[in-house]
Order: sequence, then structure tokens, then C-alpha cells
Amino acid sequence: MCVVCVRPEWQERERARGACRLCRRAIVLRELAQHGSITLGQDNPPGKAGQVASGQGPASAGAPFDANRAHMARVYDFWLGGKDNFAADRAVADQVAAAYPDIRIAVRAQRAFLARAVHFLVTQAGIRQFLDIGTGLPSANNTHQVAQAAAPQTRVVYVDNDPIVLNHARALLTSSPEGATAYIDADLRDTGPILERATAVLDFGQPVAVMLLGILQGIPDQEEPGAIIARLMDAVPSGSYLALTQIAGDVAADEVAKGVQRYNDQAAAPVAARTHAEVGRFFSGLDLVEPGVVQVHRWRAGTGDVGSGRNLAIYAGVGRKP
Ligand SMILES: C[S@@+](CC[C@H](N)C(=O)[O-])C[C@H]1O[C@@H](n2cnc3c(N)ncnc32)[C@H](O)[C@@H]1O
Repeated sequence: MCVVCVRPEWQERERARGACRLCRRAIVLRELAQHGSITLGQDNPPGKAGQVASGQGPASAGAPFDANRAHMARVYDFWLGGKDNFAADRAVADQVAAAYPDIRIAVRAQRAFLARAVHFLVTQAGIRQFLDIGTGLPSANNTHQVAQAAAPQTRVVYVDNDPIVLNHARALLTSSPEGATAYIDADLRDTGPILERATAVLDFGQPVAVMLLGILQGIPDQEEPGAIIARLMDAVPSGSYLALTQIAGDVAADEVAKGVQRYNDQAAAPVAARTHAEVGRFFSGLDLVEPGVVQVHRWRAGTGDVGSGRNLAIYAGVGRKP
């Protein structure tokens, strides 16, 4: 029975989500109407607000909300010191950290990479549009904040499939007056709808940076993550970029394998570690920006950057579409 409308006839598959689809949709739309599902600056073309909105499909596109199973966004939030997580997330996070103690530094190094990569893309590559898939819960230095600090007119579309991230989307939907931010509730696998809805904010005739940070490990090889990337990069013009990170399977391999096993035993959806060669193949058809695919704390980092001197098991890279 739906906890909101007490409708008895809702579908069985909705049971784990607490409220029925209609109520969840109504709640999300009301929240988005209150807080704005999209923020456009005054100088932006009129008529685009609201064309990109979470809640256009089911209230959440991803795994059903379940506080008793660990979810990637909430476990990551816990490692980063956030408060949007439940006991199940914290238990798994601690067990993974017991197997691979550097995980907390590694995820902070991933956030630092995000900031360095976005800054590079804006200030050196001239990028003014971002499609950030696998947004995560709002943290310090979100993509639009880093980008708009350097180029206020930058437009950012965030995409995530987690219902908790959706609930916090309004925190991401701030923007400089000249730029724009939007949020799409969707699964990375659904590239067609993502690209279609993103056109409300992004001009796919101009270069776009596609960000896939900390998300590809959730796409198993059978689901062909390389083909998903290819579909996204086919949709953007020459001069566009791909930035990604992925858990490494060949750095601290035994500890990482144990950590992945513990996570997969309890989490709502499994993850997979990948080797340097496998991550390199994600960039096929693109020109890798120096220094190529490297450990996340080594990508254009300075001394004193997070993770400096460590041996962190996350790979990172940025590639340009020729
Ligand atoms: C580890 S967090 C990374 C957050 C951020 N990109 C960063 O690097 O700090 C991964 C995010 O991807 C989201 N995610 C995982 N699988 C997804 C999928 N198939 N489609 C959309 N989002 C997904 C999770 O909900 C989570 O918010």
C-alpha cells in the first residue's frame, strides 16, 4: 500500500519505493516547482526553463529507494564525510575501508580531480558546456561551481539515477546569472533520453565535456560500458571532451578485490574494478590529454594535492574528440 495515498492497487514492483509512482511523481514535481528544476540566467534564451526536469518519467529512474541496502551515492557521501547516508551504507563503507584503507583518501582525490579536470576544460580547452553523469550528492566544488568560477556563462546538465540525489538536486541547481544548470533523473544506460532532454540546456552543435566520474564501475562488461560512452561521444561535435574515473583493478589489487567483494555482497548494485588497459579502451577514438590515463591523484596534480605520494586505486583520464 502506498504510504502517501494509501492506494492498495499499486504495482508490486513499486512496493520497495515506499510511495506509489503517482505520489512520488507529485512530490518530486512539487519540490521542483518550489525550488526550480532548472536555473537559467537572465541572458539565456527564454523558453527553456522546465524543458529539462527530473520527474518527467518515473519519480526516480534508478534503483528503488531502500535504506537497508548500500547505495553508491550514499556510501561515497559517507567516505567524503557527508551526512546523507544510512546505517547499511556506513557498515559497508567501513568494511570496504577495512579491506582497502586508502579508500577515503581515494574518493577525496577523485573530488580533487573533478575540480582540476573541470578547471582545465574551461580555462585551457575552452569548454562552456558540461554533461555530468553520475553527479553524486552535492559536495564542495560541484562541477558548475568550479566551471562558473572561471567562466560564468558555463551551462551544466547533471544526471543521476539515485532517488536521494534527486531529492538534493535543488542544491545543485544554483547558477551564475550568465550560465545555467539543470538536473535529469535518468540512468546512464538510457543515453537517448538523456541526450534528448539535455538539448533543452546544451547546444550539441558546440563542444560539450562529458563527465563520467565514479560511475562506470557500476556498468558491468556485459552491458558494454564502451558502447555507452561511444553513444554519448557520437552525439557531441569535434572539440568535445570525455573525462572519467574508474576503480583500478591492478593497483593494490588484493585489497581492492577484497573491498569490491565486500561491497558487492551487500550493495544494491555491484561494481567492478578495471585494469589500466581496460580504462584506456574507454577513450578509443579520442586523443588523450597529457598525462593520459593515470592514477587519479597524478592527473595534473601539484605537490600537496590530495593523495600526493600515495598509491591510489582509481584511474582518471581526459580525452578530446578529434
Ligand atoms: C561515486 S559517485 C560519484 C559522484 C561524482 N561524479 C564524483 O566524482 O564525485 C557515483 C554517482 O553515480 C550515480 N550512478 C551510479 N550508477 C548510475 C547509473 N547507471 N546512472 C546514473 N547515475 C548512476 C550514483 O547514484 C552516484 O551518485
